[in-house]
Amino acid sequence: MMGDLKHLLESMRPIAAYDAKERITHLRLDRWIDYPRAARVLHLLDEMHETPQRNRMPCLLLHGDSGMGKSMIIAKFRRAHPAVYDRKTGIEHHSVIAMEMPASPSQRRFYAQLLQAINAPYRPSDRLEALEFTTIRLLTAMQPRMLFVDEIHNLLSGTPREQRAALNLLKSLSNKLNCCIVVSGTQDALVALQSDDQMVSRFRPFELARWHENDEFRGFVQAFEKTLPLRLKSSLGEQPMVQALLAASHGVTGSIAEVLAGAARAALRIGTERITVELIRAEAGLLTAAVA
Ligand SMILES: Nc1ncnc2c1ncn2[C@@H]1O[C@H](COP(=O)(O)OP(=O)(O)O)[C@@H](O)[C@H]1O
Ligand SMILES: [Mg+2]
Repeated sequence: MMGDLKHLLESMRPIAAYDAKERITHLRLDRWIDYPRAARVLHLLDEMHETPQRNRMPCLLLHGDSGMGKSMIIAKFRRAHPAVYDRKTGIEHHSVIAMEMPASPSQRRFYAQLLQAINAPYRPSDRLEALEFTTIRLLTAMQPRMLFVDEIHNLLSGTPREQRAALNLLKSLSNKLNCCIVVSGTQDALVALQSDDQMVSRFRPFELARWHENDEFRGFVQAFEKTLPLRLKSSLGEQPMVQALLAASHGVTGSIAEVLAGAARAALRIGTERITVELIRAEAGLLTAAVA
């Protein structure tokens, strides 16, 4: 029943020998699947990170529907640029800082999130001016190269005044610190930024659009298959598997991952050891039932 396991990554082959229960547990682990669009974003981010400090640092707006993999890309980039502790000065140097736009985007909350992101102590009761002063002082010493603000669409839940203030805050941070800013969020993020001409000209947009049927998608699901602990080849990149997956997920990366994990779990439980179109359809039915 083991076969040659050539359909798996070499690192996954020993896992395929585990019993079904252990492999079901293994399916819960996060996996990073490389695909060209993510690689392109990561490359852009690397270029931004290497840009020598100058007056107008490049900025990026990463947008796409919820579940398309934006936060995963940011997390991946961050792992490659961890904070470094300087024993002499006692300062933790973050060359990459990542935070989320608070759900209600007041300036106080923004500074509080930013200070938390660099593990800086602060008093929530501090006045706005004090928070701002502390933030700028710490960040000037730290000289970060990039600041990520995820969930930027949360801007829209603020009053028009709060929205303007938050955008001005981003611009002034980028200018004061001479660092690259990357904002990410749903399509609403575009709307939020479009209210400000300077932001539009400053932020290069990059869209993570939903998947459709093409070589890139086939490559993605083939790469996914190589990480699933199943003993038999499922041929996920072939018809009608590809169509079933797109129908089940509406082209959203997160749903594809969920459907595949669910179908793999089922394949382990019933012992087919491979994902079939029927298992994908059954999994899609379960997902729809859960939403309804
Ligand atoms: N590169 C990837 N490899 C494997 N799974 C991914 C990848 N990108 C996204 N996913 C799956 O999609 C889910 C949603 O991704 P996430 O980054 O949270 O989306 P977004 O931030 O765009 O809403 C993740 O929890 C993961 O299961
Ligand atoms: Mg996200």
